[in-house]
Formats: sequence, C-alpha cells, structure tokens
Amino acid sequence: MNAFRKLFPNEMSRYRAHLLRLESVDRHLRFGGSVSDAVIEQHCLRMDWHDTIVIGYFVDGELRGAAELRTAGDLFPSRGELAFSVERVYQGRGVGSALMGRVLNIARNRGIRQVNLVCLLENRAMQNLAVKFSGARVVDAGEVGVSIRLDRADQISLMTEALEESAALVASMFSGLPFCSGKTVH
Ligand SMILES: CC(C)(COP(=O)(O)OP(=O)(O)OC[C@H]1O[C@@H](n2cnc3c(N)ncnc32)[C@H](O)[C@@H]1OP(=O)(O)O)[C@@H](O)C(=O)NCCC(=O)NCCS
Repeated sequence: MNAFRKLFPNEMSRYRAHLLRLESVDRHLRFGGSVSDAVIEQHCLRMDWHDTIVIGYFVDGELRGAAELRTAGDLFPSRGELAFSVERVYQGRGVGSALMGRVLNIARNRGIRQVNLVCLLENRAMQNLAVKFSGARVVDAGEVGVSIRLDRADQISLMTEALEESAALVASMFSGLPFCSGKTVH
C-alpha cells in the first residue's frame, strides 16, 4: 500500500533510514555534495520539528520518499526552504511531483508566500520538477536557486490538506500498518 502523509517527530529514525538508503549519486544531489552517514545523522538529530515539516511517501509502511519544508523559525514565516529525496527504485513515477504538490499546499496553508530550493546545476530532474510547478530558476556558480511563489490559503487549500491527512489515516487503519509507531526510536 502507498501513502503520503506528514511525519511525526518520533519518526525521525524513519527519515534517517530513508536518507541513508539513498544511492551515493542521489545523496550527492540531495545534499549538494558528498556527505557521510554521520552528516545525515546530524542533519536528522538537529531537525527542529517546530519549524520543519516532512511529508513522506510510504510503501508498505516503509518511507521511500520525502519533501522537507523548513521555515526561518518565525512565528508567522513568509518563506520556506525545500528539499526532496526519492529512493532510486521509485523515481520517475510521479512521486516527486506528488510530494511537491502536497508540500506547496501545506506551505501555503501556513501563510508562506515563497518557497526556495537549491540544487546542483546537473540536477535536471529537480529543475524540471520545479519548473512544472512554476519555479523560477537563477543559476549561480554551479548551483541553481529555484523560487516558487504561493497564493494565499483558501478554503480549498485547507480542505485539501485535511482530506489528504484523513485519507492517509483511514488507509493505514484498513491496511493494519501503523499511522504512527507511538515509539520514539533514535
Ligand atoms: C529530484 C527527484 C526528487 C524527482 O523525483 P521523481 O519522483 O523522480 O519525480 P517525478 O517522477 O515526479 O518527475 C517529476 C519531473 O521531473 C523531471 N524528471 C524526472 N526524472 C528526470 C530525469 N531523469 N531527467 C530529467 N528530468 C527528469 C520530469 O520533468 C518529471 O515530470 P514529467 O514526468 O511530468 O515530465 C528525485 O529524482 C530525487 O530524489 N533525486 C535525488 C535527490 C535530489 O536530487 N534532490 C533534490 C535536491 S533538493
């Protein structure tokens, strides 16, 4: 069973395991350079769940893709930073697009008016994905900065987020897979 939903703070270990499973080329693209397991470990340990939202793509209960949205920590942030990761076997099947649609809607519902991401110049997949969602690209010294403007939240965007989360909950109840493990595992 496949499902998209937000991760809970006590699911950090699932996110870490997903990032560690990325093939070396994808790890390089995700972090903008070669990073060790210890760097990924620190990235996850330092995440502040007050200003970070991770939307996960689950296959049979295993996290296989994620969109990470970080804000500046302001009470009412107007900007956010995005990063994406989809495990190699699941790439090219629309997972990145589905994660992008969801994370933009969630950002919009938090009052965020612009999201940015940075990727390597050679990362055509990420750039094409961003352009699909009206991202504006700026090339600078081997990197590409992409910004996407967001509309204000409305009843439809709020309802969409609520329905998507409810659907994930119902699907997990019927599949017998845990919606949330209820355990903190580090
Ligand atoms: C970038 C990434 C998230 C895309 O995820 P995905 O699930 O493969 O994306 P989708 O299948 O939804 O494809 C989205 C668009 O990307 C483009 N795309 C996908 N794979 C591509 C490839 N190999 N080359 C060029 N463009 C590609 C296409 O335009 C596609 O849209 P279309 O199918 O409507 O034409 C994924 O490749 C990934 O995790 N890469 C490694 C980590 C990374 O690069 N992170 C980004 C840094 S923040």
